[in-house]
Amino acid sequence: MTIKEALASNKPIDDITISGWVRTRRDSKGFSFLSINDGSCLANIQAIVDEGIPGSESISTATTGSSVKVKGQLVESPGKGQSYEIKALEIEVTGTADDTYPLQKKGHSPEFLRQIAHLRPRSNLFGCVFRTRSRLAYAIHQFFQKKGFVYVHTPIITASDCEGAGEMFRVTTLDGNQTDEDNDFFGKPTYLTVSGQLEVETFACALSNVYTFGPTFRAENSNTTRHASEFWMIEPEMAYCDLEGDMNLAEEMIKYLITDTLENCAEDLELFGKFVDKGLMERLHSVSNQAFQRISYTEAVKILEGAEMKFEYPIEWGVNLQTEHERFLTEEHFKSPVTVYDYPKSIKPFYMRVNDDGKTSAAMDLLVPGIGEIIGGSQREERLDVLLKNMEEHNISNEDYSWYSDLRKYGTVPHSGFGLGFERMLMFVTGVANIRDVIPFPRTPGSADF
Ligand code: 4AD
Ligand code: MG
Repeated sequence: MTIKEALASNKPIDDITISGWVRTRRDSKGFSFLSINDGSCLANIQAIVDEGIPGSESISTATTGSSVKVKGQLVESPGKGQSYEIKALEIEVTGTADDTYPLQKKGHSPEFLRQIAHLRPRSNLFGCVFRTRSRLAYAIHQFFQKKGFVYVHTPIITASDCEGAGEMFRVTTLDGNQTDEDNDFFGKPTYLTVSGQLEVETFACALSNVYTFGPTFRAENSNTTRHASEFWMIEPEMAYCDLEGDMNLAEEMIKYLITDTLENCAEDLELFGKFVDKGLMERLHSVSNQAFQRISYTEAVKILEGAEMKFEYPIEWGVNLQTEHERFLTEEHFKSPVTVYDYPKSIKPFYMRVNDDGKTSAAMDLLVPGIGEIIGGSQREERLDVLLKNMEEHNISNEDYSWYSDLRKYGTVPHSGFGLGFERMLMFVTGVANIRDVIPFPRTPGSADF
């Protein structure tokens, strides 16, 4: 039985086996206290191991970090700090750990723990993070499945550069000296995907409401607390949906995920609220209740131009919003999540729908306090002639992307979608400030350990 199940039973159990890792051991005359954690929940369970029970002769080897299996009874605890404890009838030290075990009782910094990513899930903080990560992934599927969205697995190896920014990892079997692309494994240059969007659009134009949820890779050299080279993205795509419907879904999803986490990860969130981000609970509650703001890019630029704050990157109509601008809007100006829409066409990729003004695209970014951009999306260009013109302007080869433009040639429909950065969402619900601390084994420029 897991510790979580045992504690949730909330009644004595006559015959129980608990297995896990020793957090601490205290010896008294005639018995020892073991504090055991199995990662099923934040709480440890205390086991009382009397001298003389089978296995108790090796109790001195049950040091911090060792693994143990305890058979016994779950009984009400007379001690403070726990309602139930295990009265051991038999114990086995499965694996010992000597005093080089790096997770000693005193707390460790996330920076230190990052260097021991193989052991950090055994710490309280990372146990909480990765249980919350699991629940969040589940909640995302639930959100879409309840709405009847079809889950599509888009390819990880791809020949298309969706975002057109060229920040892709090459996938090749050629060695460093070979340059002949025809002889490469796939007979042409291939990459790790930066987004499943173009592929998932083909499914939206067949199954109507769809989503992908998978790993994406970006070779951008941004060493920030919010960028990883390998991260997960959720990308819904909806046929017969315009930008407004897209923004509605994005907001609904963020709120749903916060509510779900508040309901199902209460114990883990409590730890984040205490030790990671004191303002977390208040922020989550307020975001799940308040209406989000919505403004056009043009309005956003006016607000930023009028701001008293000095920005490192000057702002004027036509430039991309930097993180400092995004955070000013959401944290200082609106003090709420805000969706910015209708960006200048010139700074957006070829697939976004051109608005009637000819200057802007039907793009949107959802910004949240503490992070900035958490979602990026758009209505897609469904008019074949306009798409072809956009592709030409972006130097996108007609030949390589004919499958994409075919969707507009055969039964085109207006459609929209967005991408939610999974780790950024997890940072938002946990208050963890560095993306490296919400990914089991983070990959960032210059670092792919483990
Ligand atoms: O804004 P992005 O680049 O949008 C797309 O990829 C679209 N094709 C999505 C779509 O419309 N289907 O990325 C979407 C989100 C960002 O808002 C951000 O949350 C996250 O993905 N993201 C990253 N997260 C971690 N590390 C990185 N390097 C990220 N780059 C983007
Ligand atoms: Mg973006």
